[in-house]
Amino acid sequence: MTTSTSPTATASRIGAVAPVRVATIGAGRIGTSHTELIARHVPGAVVAAVADPVDGAADRLAAAVGADLATTDIEAVLASSDVDAVLITAPARSHSELVCRAAAAGKHVFCEKPMAVTLDEADRAIAAAADAGVILQVGFNRRFAPGFAAARRAVDDGRVGTPQLLRSLTRDPGPWQADPARVPQWTIFLETLIHDFDTLCFLNPGARPVSVHAFADALIRPDAKESGASEATGNVSGASEATGNVSGASEATGNVSGHLDTAIVTITFDNGAMATAEANFSALYGYDVRGEVFGSAGMATTGSGRTTDMTFYGAAGVEIETARRDTILLHEAYVGELTAFVEAVRGASSAVVGGADARTALQIALAAIRSVETGTTVRIDEVG
Ligand SMILES: NC(=O)c1ccc[n+]([C@@H]2O[C@H](COP(=O)([O-])OP(=O)(O)OC[C@H]3O[C@@H](n4cnc5c(N)ncnc54)[C@H](O)[C@@H]3O)[C@@H](O)[C@H]2O)c1
Repeated sequence: MTTSTSPTATASRIGAVAPVRVATIGAGRIGTSHTELIARHVPGAVVAAVADPVDGAADRLAAAVGADLATTDIEAVLASSDVDAVLITAPARSHSELVCRAAAAGKHVFCEKPMAVTLDEADRAIAAAADAGVILQVGFNRRFAPGFAAARRAVDDGRVGTPQLLRSLTRDPGPWQADPARVPQWTIFLETLIHDFDTLCFLNPGARPVSVHAFADALIRPDAKESGASEATGNVSGASEATGNVSGASEATGNVSGHLDTAIVTITFDNGAMATAEANFSALYGYDVRGEVFGSAGMATTGSGRTTDMTFYGAAGVEIETARRDTILLHEAYVGELTAFVEAVRGASSAVVGGADARTALQIALAAIRSVETGTTVRIDEVG
């Protein structure tokens, strides 16, 4: 199927005052949240369409936000001249192909992380957007969280000095109740820590990652360590081929192919800075996202897991309320990234976080995977 909307036509129509007409591709958890935010919290945009291959999923979400088109046919959305831009919120392994198809159809693209799971795919997605002249923004929402943005300003205006040590962590709210067999292999690096890898680059602007060493294990579900993760994804890093010895690597690290729910990664940068990223799938106290940059002149830290700045003092002691969902803790960040995307599509700005940023975070993730597989420190240039 072809589309009747060329990139140029889309861009010039949007130059006027008309709202940006957004379509969601993937009406799951984050697709639903993003779509509702577009409909209710993002100025200058309307939801025009929702697509999801599962029967009924698009209908439900389209009805909730008053979108005209609900379909199981992704191509119908891409071909629609009533759609200016798409939100890609389908599963990770479909992202890069959807970016390429949407860009070829002349649609501006907001793609959830990870934009791709191999560097070849990332390069194809970046090239497709460039060739079509469409905006490509990636869902690294932490850059839009007020505290993380303020930390970056403290770096930019010199208050931190030269970054020397950085930290970023993600602890998903527990108890973790997913089926490990349904979690794609390497999710902790490709879908969880990818946020932290981007955060570390964001807080160390201009610097490039040089080397990575990672440890990962199944501490929440040790029973799933050998059998756990879905292998449907295959070997995204290509490291098995590179080392030619998966079982040898397994002996070195104790865990190559199974479920991984806890990880720590060290990264060095070409400006000398050293960083750590860590993740765990089950923080019983709530969703916990934090960042820190320590430099020659000062330090900025951000993130607390608090839902508000209220602290309750009672007979039992002191309590704070913590968020149990990313969409609650980072509400402002999600609204901020979607607002920035709509502004970029309207021509008021360029994409704040784009394909090149997604590629760098992916390089770190792939190096971390190879490090776990081989038990060695991996240079970024080894993964491409
Ligand atoms: N930035 C963030 O904070 C954040 C938070 C959550 C999820 N995510 C990312 O968003 C993506 C989706 O996560 P989720 O938790 O919403 O998953 P989900 O499983 O809840 O939803 C995915 C949806 O996509 C649909 N789908 C499957 N294949 C498709 C295809 N080829 N085309 C279109 N739709 C398809 C599924 O039917 C489902 O409705 C993942 O990449 C995840 O890492 C990002």
